[in-house]
Amino acid sequence: MPSVKSACSAIIGIVICISVPQLCFGPAQAVFGTTPNIKHIVIGRCFTYTTLVQPGLRYDCEEIWRQFEKAVVQQSSCNVTEEHYFEMFNMMPEIWPCDRFLFWSKTRVLVHSYAAVFRHFWTLEDTLVGYLFNDLVWCGQEEDSDFDFNVCPAWSTCRTHPVYSLWKRASQNFAEMACGNITVLLNGSVVNAFNKKSMFGSIELDSLNPQRVNYVNIKVVTNPEGPHIESCSQGSILELIQILLSRGFQWTCTDSDLALVILQCVQDLNHPSCQMLANNMLQQKDLTST
Ligand SMILES: *[C@@H]1O[C@H](CO)[C@@H](O)[C@H](O)[C@H]1NC(C)=O
Ligand SMILES: *[C@@H]1O[C@H](CO)[C@@H](O)[C@H](O)[C@H]1NC(C)=O
Ligand SMILES: *[C@@H]1O[C@H](CO)[C@@H](O)[C@H](O)[C@H]1NC(C)=O
Repeated sequence: MPSVKSACSAIIGIVICISVPQLCFGPAQAVFGTTPNIKHIVIGRCFTYTTLVQPGLRYDCEEIWRQFEKAVVQQSSCNVTEEHYFEMFNMMPEIWPCDRFLFWSKTRVLVHSYAAVFRHFWTLEDTLVGYLFNDLVWCGQEEDSDFDFNVCPAWSTCRTHPVYSLWKRASQNFAEMACGNITVLLNGSVVNAFNKKSMFGSIELDSLNPQRVNYVNIKVVTNPEGPHIESCSQGSILELIQILLSRGFQWTCTDSDLALVILQCVQDLNHPSCQMLANNMLQQKDLTST
């Protein structure tokens, strides 16, 4: 969920403002309001998606924008529910092949490298709605027919935040569609790798259908430098497994999946654990080639 990050930066921004007011001037201010040029960005991304990413799909990009705008503007900035977006979502139905659904929580950077390498995986950000609104911030203002480009409330300050409501519905749709084997990437370097308040824990998990999903394959990944706090046999992931069992899902759980470890090491070859891995792989190569 891209905008988790944006919402976080807004919250962090506010904290910074209170403690270091001089940091609040200049370009950093843009963080607080609707993303500038949002209309051009969304319509441009929509054409990119329907022309280059998923050619052949027919969507009316201009109409999607109009429905989005209608949902958000002229509402007070904390008063946009999922229902406001229904017409927009109706404009963008999507059907996804099974066995490709990739869910994640607190592994944002890694998950997108993973999906970029293993092209058969799809995340929410690969769906049309995810693609259009990734990393954007928006809110309207009462008594005005435009977005508020100056200031948007922090995500956490209201239950019906326009950004949150859109991602909530998008996540729910994504999880409801999930079928076959699905994969969940969790971060074993944090306490509560499985967090019931996260988008995955609160929305997606509840929307998965045991009749459609064959296996929930959990992968727990820690940072090479640690800490190694949670795993398949330790911490909140046990709770996730309990929930899956009680709902009749089949599941597997893997710690330190080799592909994921290698992917992390590609970005940090000098880390001691990565050097060990590299040496092992080189040794094996020597053995097989001699
Ligand atoms: C929020 O929306 C509801 C229904 O659309 C409306 O009755 C209410 O007055 C709005 N609240 C604010 C603070 O704008
Ligand atoms: C785990 O979470 C921490 C804290 O948010 C983050 O710095 C780290 O990159 C995450 N690790 C992975 C593998 O995504
Ligand atoms: C689904 O996952 C299970 C357990 O990991 C595995 O045995 C099976 O081969 C997978 N099926 C597909 C279609 O990937």
